[in-house]
Amino acid sequence: MDKISICFLILCMVWPVLSKTTIYDVTKYGAKGDGKTDDSQAFLRAWKAACVAETVPTILIRPKKTFLLKPLTFNGPCKTSRVYVQVLGTLVAPGSKAEWKGYPINSWITFLNVHGLHLLGRGTIDGRGSAWWPNACLDNAPPGSRCKGPTALIVRRCDGFRLQRLHHLNSGGSHMIVTASNDVRISDIRITAPGNSPNTDGIDISSCKGVQIRNSVIGTGDDCIAIGGGSTNIAITGVMCGPGHGISIGALGHGGYDIVEEVHVKNCTLKDTTNGVRLKSWQGGTGYARKISFSRIRLVAVANPIIIDQFYCPHRTDCQNSTSAVALSEISYVGIIGTSTTDDVIDLSCSQANSCKNIVLDHVYLASITRDKLASVKCFNAHGTASHVKPALNCLLK
Ligand SMILES: *[C@@H]1O[C@H](CO)[C@@H](O)[C@H](O)[C@H]1NC(C)=O
Ligand SMILES: *[C@@H]1O[C@H](CO)[C@@H](O)[C@H](O)[C@H]1NC(C)=O
Repeated sequence: MDKISICFLILCMVWPVLSKTTIYDVTKYGAKGDGKTDDSQAFLRAWKAACVAETVPTILIRPKKTFLLKPLTFNGPCKTSRVYVQVLGTLVAPGSKAEWKGYPINSWITFLNVHGLHLLGRGTIDGRGSAWWPNACLDNAPPGSRCKGPTALIVRRCDGFRLQRLHHLNSGGSHMIVTASNDVRISDIRITAPGNSPNTDGIDISSCKGVQIRNSVIGTGDDCIAIGGGSTNIAITGVMCGPGHGISIGALGHGGYDIVEEVHVKNCTLKDTTNGVRLKSWQGGTGYARKISFSRIRLVAVANPIIIDQFYCPHRTDCQNSTSAVALSEISYVGIIGTSTTDDVIDLSCSQANSCKNIVLDHVYLASITRDKLASVKCFNAHGTASHVKPALNCLLK
């Protein structure tokens, strides 16, 4: 046989192996899926088997079943370069704080060090967070503690992470934290929690390089998407946000050095949110956020459409102005159109220490939702240029 035929023959033998995936059905590992039995150990048994498999595994979570999971971590690295988790049924968290006793309460489901993790399917991840919303502290927390309910899903150090089509519901805290992971794609997901549920961020990204979030619908009681320090090359497109606190970068510089670079938010709609697109940083930080763009953004009844706040201090105590701040530059707003429920539709409050530079606004048309009410703008130490902006923005410094 010639070389080409041999190559062809080898390819024919290898291909079925490459494309094959082995199913690990959690019910085969003892999961009941009745919504009452703790299925955590069964899931971990399925994971253990799948993670050492030589062929690409698919953990199968069947439809029309509800699996109760206690807080648990799926650890990698696994043997194969991809691991599929097909969620067709519903995963539910413990429904009362008492059931969390003895477990760490910062997170519910964690994936750690799993490269090529594909979390797919039309199923639901239900954090049953309502027990945490009125008071996120446990009984034994010291008085005055600021507590947050558990994050429903944490993905840490999972390069090549893919998340598609899932419905994330009612987390006690953030719905999802993706951190220290590169090459991440999230698409066609829904995140739903009541507008008054505290700290229920939709997606929190930090320390990630290369993240795409596309075609998703997020309505929660806090930020729809929050981009934290260490994030570069982040693209957010086709996101419907509301209710919630809008799309935020920051808060940066809390106790140190932060960098954020190349964040592009495009073709998104925000409706009934308390903020539109927001950049926030603490006084006293160092580092920078630059090359950030917001383009083709529609706003409907949004309270504070465009905000830069370099004096971020959410609890209004123990914050002092400092001689340092995270530097903000090359921030553009192009094609931002819609209505606001507050007077100041644009508020650019930049630090004296390290003012914002190269802010560009172009084709930004914002009006009050109340007919005949005039919208206004506010700037402080903000440098940049504005063209085709209504209401007129004459307060930018050169
Ligand atoms: C814009 O976003 C919407 C979803 O809000 C999506 O359906 C549409 O395809 C997007 N358009 C482009 C050009 O990306
Ligand atoms: C910090 O400076 C800003 C702008 O001058 C001012 O509005 C704010 O009150 C100051 N905050 C404190 C805590 O001094």
